[in-house]
Amino acid sequence: MSENSFKVIAEDSLQPKSFSFSSDNLVKAKNIIKMYPSNYKESSIMPLLSIAQNQNNGWVPKKAIEYISDLINVPEIKVLELATFYSMYNLSPVGKFHIEVCTTSPCMLRGSDSMLNLCKKKLGIGIGQVTNDKLFSLGKVECLGACVNAPVVKINENYFEDINSQSLDQLINNFKDNKKIKIGPQSERKGSEPRK
Ligand code: FES
Repeated sequence: MSENSFKVIAEDSLQPKSFSFSSDNLVKAKNIIKMYPSNYKESSIMPLLSIAQNQNNGWVPKKAIEYISDLINVPEIKVLELATFYSMYNLSPVGKFHIEVCTTSPCMLRGSDSMLNLCKKKLGIGIGQVTNDKLFSLGKVECLGACVNAPVVKINENYFEDINSQSLDQLINNFKDNKKIKIGPQSERKGSEPRK
């Protein structure tokens, strides 16, 4: 399986037959669309894709791409090109907890390879795969923009920073057991303050 398999459009058997925003999400979407001039409707595509992905368990189906294209009256290819370009959009099903390990240089120098290997071993999956119970999926991403807190792992919409093998192992256990999790630095420091 490719390392970028969540960026590959899911096969037809996995695609829902239809897609439309829930009533709450439609209100959100309309408010977003209103923020842009009518000749720059394309600017709303990214936030609309995020709403679609959140509504559809973490991935964007083909029908959502068609739906957004119809909603703002732009060619489907405009929506598709953004959905395929940005790593934050998944085009095939992910686990309930989608783990993305940053492996760009600062995180690599701070041990991201070990974090990736820990996830693979603990979850029994490779990059681009989902566990049999559909709880976890694993991806590898470029810089998440939080290098000062390297190494960094993103799980769904949250960042977990200053991680090490012990804290990542515990974090995965906590997600699995539905226990309280600490978002942000897993070290003693707050935000990106200097280490004491
Ligand atoms: S290199 Fe990992 S957050 Fe920037």
